Amino acid sequence: MPRYAHITGWGHALPEHVLTNKDLENMVDTSDEWIVTRTGIRERRIAAPDQTTASLAADAATEALKVAGVKPTDVDLIIVATSSPEHIFPATAAIVQDMLGATHAGAFDLSAACTGFIFALNMAAQAIRTGSIDTAVVIGAETLSRIVNWQDRNTCILFGDGAGAFVLQGSEEPGGVMHAVMHADGSGADVLSIPAGGSKIPTSADTVAHGLHYVHMEGRPVFRFATRVMAEATREVLAKANLTPDDVDLIIPHQANIRILEVAARNLKLPMERFMVNLDRYGNTSTASIPIATVEAVAQGRLRRGDKVVLVGFGGGLTYGALLAEWTGPFPDHPEVNPERYRLWARVRSTGLRLKRKVLAHTSREENLGG
Ligand code: ACO
Repeated sequence: MPRYAHITGWGHALPEHVLTNKDLENMVDTSDEWIVTRTGIRERRIAAPDQTTASLAADAATEALKVAGVKPTDVDLIIVATSSPEHIFPATAAIVQDMLGATHAGAFDLSAACTGFIFALNMAAQAIRTGSIDTAVVIGAETLSRIVNWQDRNTCILFGDGAGAFVLQGSEEPGGVMHAVMHADGSGADVLSIPAGGSKIPTSADTVAHGLHYVHMEGRPVFRFATRVMAEATREVLAKANLTPDDVDLIIPHQANIRILEVAARNLKLPMERFMVNLDRYGNTSTASIPIATVEAVAQGRLRRGDKVVLVGFGGGLTYGALLAEWTGPFPDHPEVNPERYRLWARVRSTGLRLKRKVLAHTSREENLGG
């Protein structure tokens, strides 16, 4: 029987502090009018001192697990896509695994800048489809406010902090993640990067003095790249399912700049209403922007069971990609949907998992003994 990977839970975490364009006028030489007309952004959220990429990720994941009705101990895999990890290593995902108490989960980070959430979702869905795992939590989380130069008006007006998470679960019911395309063009690596702090240019007093530990971006080439690839990736992923843009109920794009989305809509010959847009309130939250927008789309009633949705993004790398899914929502066994059936399902599932672990422990003991 083929297996399918369904999106059964979603959640987000947004810092309370709002930084408006007016606030930025007091920090750099800019204006609300310039920012709104060039980007569409009006305000963004900034993490509190005690919030980190991992804590925002864990908050979003906790909400997503609750929606799905899944216990942290039933999670097999956690992937955190991030451009602002807690450390170069260990992986932010491992810290999140501990925060959640997801004691049976493997965990790793995925680095593909703003496209990271799409790549991570595709990787988790593939692992579920092959039968290697049952349940995954995929998170996009950022505290970009900690890595932008607040004196650089080219970048600091664009970014915001936040996190979003999906729970993916396997089932033999058709639906869920259908197709994905993943692309990279490393020849554009220099146009959007944090130049120092890695192994090529290790941190030194000199790199700090020159601000090389901050995000550097050449806006125009990124803009040109983005306007080309958003429509291209959307068409490519739809072609895999023999669908056209008209068949899509909702497009949830990476929230970078309203002008980029308007060009994509024009290229796809779709009205803007078919796009989920919330960049005006959160700015560009990199890997977190697509799951945050998804949570809001569900809350606004714009995503219903059976809807075809395309997630599409681009970012540093350069990278770009798109993912087509049929929207599922929580499995019918979710506690709020059918409490009786859920209790039965949870009992059967936890007995099954205990048995599976016992068999695995027994097999590895036999192997260790050379059996
Ligand atoms: N306020 C006022 N003026 C500004 C500001 C600002 N915040 N920033 C730049 N300017 C000035 C520039 O200095 C320039 O002045 P000049 O003509 O005297 O040199 C002028 O405005 C025009 O600058 P451009 O860079 O040409 O402006 P553009 O229309 O291209 O808009 C922007 C800039 C918004 C950054 C645009 O290029 C863009 O959106 N690019 C894509 C960026 C993006 O999406 N990045 C995220 C990628 S995702 C990831 O991986 C993190």
